[in-house]
Amino acid sequence: MREAVRPVSREEILRQEDIIRQIRLRPDRPQSYCIITYGCQMNAHDSEKLAGILEEMGMRPESDRQKADLILFNTCCIRDNAERRAMGNIIFTKEIRREKPHLLVGVCGCMAQQKGFQDRLKDRYPFVDFSFGPGEIYRLPERLLYAMEGHREEAFKSGEDSTLYEGLPVLRRDPFFAYLTVMYGCDNFCSYCVVPMVRGRERSRAMAQILSEAEDLVKGGVQEIMLLGQNVNSYDGGEPGADFARLLHELGKTGIRRLRFMTSNPKDLLDGLILEMARNPAVCPHLHLPAQSGSDRMLSAMNRRYTRETYLDRVRALRSAMPHIGLTTDLIVAFPGESEQDFGDTLSLVEEVRFDSAFTFIYSPRTGTKAAGLPDRVPPETAKDRITRLIAKQEDITRSVFASLIGTADHVLAEGVSRRDGGQLTGKTGRSLACNFPGPPELIGQIVPVRITGQGSNTLKAERIERKPE
Ligand code: SAH
Ligand code: SF4
Ligand code: F3S
Repeated sequence: MREAVRPVSREEILRQEDIIRQIRLRPDRPQSYCIITYGCQMNAHDSEKLAGILEEMGMRPESDRQKADLILFNTCCIRDNAERRAMGNIIFTKEIRREKPHLLVGVCGCMAQQKGFQDRLKDRYPFVDFSFGPGEIYRLPERLLYAMEGHREEAFKSGEDSTLYEGLPVLRRDPFFAYLTVMYGCDNFCSYCVVPMVRGRERSRAMAQILSEAEDLVKGGVQEIMLLGQNVNSYDGGEPGADFARLLHELGKTGIRRLRFMTSNPKDLLDGLILEMARNPAVCPHLHLPAQSGSDRMLSAMNRRYTRETYLDRVRALRSAMPHIGLTTDLIVAFPGESEQDFGDTLSLVEEVRFDSAFTFIYSPRTGTKAAGLPDRVPPETAKDRITRLIAKQEDITRSVFASLIGTADHVLAEGVSRRDGGQLTGKTGRSLACNFPGPPELIGQIVPVRITGQGSNTLKAERIERKPE
């Protein structure tokens, strides 16, 4: 059943802002905070929103969790190992609290939206003080106040997951790079995936809101914006024609130098969008296009709603419109019922497409998803063997793609000084490949023309040039 999207009213946001002011004035409030973030870019950006709210309350960041007055875990539940890592660290706060009885601990993010999780936390983990799901970030002030006042029931009240809110403060990590949410949630229900359960129904922000946020970012000196959504291709700004291609077009007029976006679902990658990507000079020549598998049998069991052939067709369309585009992907091995032949189809897809790189995962059953009930689980040894072979194959391809780029010119947004060598700057090329080149720290935050000179492990080496030839 489709749940209704609930836009959060201005009154409700004002109420939370009022609580922010109340907390700021209290001498017993936490003075410092540490946010520990797991999972994807959405969570990374949500943490920037959480930090924005906490700073409005007068708190300062503390990177050492042992020293912070408030620890907030922004969790992920996409795979079992993500959950286990977070739980281990949450439980460890019990020890920190022994030394520091005034410590407050909050748990938010996708784990908090799982059925029954908040009640379990409340009943079994007395050292956790409050919790809220990813749809309720705007309620952080209220939950924190309840926790400070010892109202445990209210501090853990599980709530809606399909809200849409505007107007909260955001504290961005970098002055030159920014995440920008275009849509929340997901309606695709891939059979293995927990995201539709924990992030709620798909809902797009109004185009005017996105554009005004982007304009402010550009005015503030941001060079690169990454648009976020679980399936940005199905963005729908509510008015006729307000699709993702149009959004990119309008964003191009803000003067932003670089635009990226993720994630794109191959089933919704229409020709109109490819055309816009090709002709919009701000859109970077890179696309993350998760394939998940190269086998039609698996793709159908995964409910991905495209075939190997339609995936390859999209790749051809992208490359014919943008010959220098770099493609990256996500792949799952050992989905229930995956035979050696199905896995061979994934290997051959990787060979055929020649991705710049791939994120590879062993299938992890998730409670509440359709695939969790499927028979024919692949034994763990087979799964490990397959992922090892897949990684080796992709590493070979990455090396040869990198080799083919030597001698070409590109631009790098210099993000910082290389950790290994203080004389080198590090950043990403237009194709989103990590790249190091010699240069002074004054260039950080600028887009620098370079020529690729070689490759390191998973990085390109480059030198500065005057100007990238056309
Ligand atoms: N919305 C994005 C993906 C978000 S999750 C998309 O559709 O592409 C990121 C990746 O995690 C997925 O692409 C998938 O490869 C992987 N993943 C998701 N659920 C998984 C599971 N149960 N087991 C293993 N990998 C999973
Ligand atoms: Fe999960 Fe599929 Fe939605 Fe991506 S598109 S978030 S894999 S359900
Ligand atoms: Fe994890 Fe939630 Fe992202 S489950 S991958 S943090 S959407």
